Amino acid sequence: MTDGLRYDGRVVIVTGAGGGLGRQHALMFGARGARVVVNDLGGGRTGDGSSSAAADRVVEEIRSIGGEAVANYDSVTDGARIVETALEVFGTVDVVVNNAGILRDVSFHKMTDQDWTLLQNIHLNGTCAVTQAAWPVLRDKGYGRVIMTTSAAGIYGNFGQANYAAAKLGILGLANALAEEGRTKNIHVNTIAPIAASRMTETVFPKELLDRLRPEAVSPLVGWLAHELCTETKGLFEVGAGYMAKLRWERTNGYRFGGDFTLDDVARHWDAVVDFTGAEHPVVMHDSLAAVQREG
Ligand SMILES: NC(=O)c1ccc[n+]([C@@H]2O[C@H](COP(=O)([O-])OP(=O)(O)OC[C@H]3O[C@@H](n4cnc5c(N)ncnc54)[C@H](O)[C@@H]3O)[C@@H](O)[C@H]2O)c1
Repeated sequence: MTDGLRYDGRVVIVTGAGGGLGRQHALMFGARGARVVVNDLGGGRTGDGSSSAAADRVVEEIRSIGGEAVANYDSVTDGARIVETALEVFGTVDVVVNNAGILRDVSFHKMTDQDWTLLQNIHLNGTCAVTQAAWPVLRDKGYGRVIMTTSAAGIYGNFGQANYAAAKLGILGLANALAEEGRTKNIHVNTIAPIAASRMTETVFPKELLDRLRPEAVSPLVGWLAHELCTETKGLFEVGAGYMAKLRWERTNGYRFGGDFTLDDVARHWDAVVDFTGAEHPVVMHDSLAAVQREG
């Protein structure tokens, strides 16, 4: 029975919830009984400035539909303070949705140290800081749902987004490791790569496409991954405009060189190394070692 899934008694932190996708996630949780920490620094698209207005507005929206919410205006880089808000106001935390983010698009040869460092700080270090502050609480209670936000730019690579792509795929690496560490503690960690209309994409996608990419079409997947009935962990999902799909690693059967071999042998057998016929789908680190050790 999955009609009317709710989060009564659950405390949910949504970072970057003052606008775009985060606001929709927060509204969904608030409408379904969760007590929500609406975190947002309230800065610009490229990380400039700050304001309490964005988070306050979403808290008001949640309260106006009868939900419970509190605002937090700290940067995700001060993750402990966001988790402290949850603990002080609501007494615990059950779900962390790492969503906050900015862009500093620039081609690699023009990228400054600041373009690089700022993106790593907010996306990767910020996601780590919030999650690490919540982690002991989740471990102690033997329950937790963590949702990470990556991007197709990181998964597939994109021109002008080296800083963003690296940070976003770093988040996936963090999620994969935390899914393993959380496995025996009933802490599930999943990652979404959304596509939605927001101030982040309004200059990237054409108007007709933006009209179809409603940010609220991403939140139901976040909601399901955050729900106690969902057993999924270590998943990676592409989601947008009502579409959602799971991604996984694929490895060719490979080629095994016997005895001594040279780079000329590698060149000679390259077609076999990269041939995906009958490919495998490794899921845990041991699958890597097992493939190397396999005979014949
Ligand atoms: N919109 C898309 O198509 C798309 C695609 C791939 C990934 N994403 C990711 O989804 C997430 C949400 O993006 P969005 O499209 O809703 O953008 P958005 O700009 O509308 O929302 C991001 C929010 O994060 C907040 N924020 C920024 N830095 C912060 C910080 N240091 N601390 C706390 N809050 C901070 C901003 O104030 C803003 O409200 C981001 O992580 C983004 O990288 C979005």
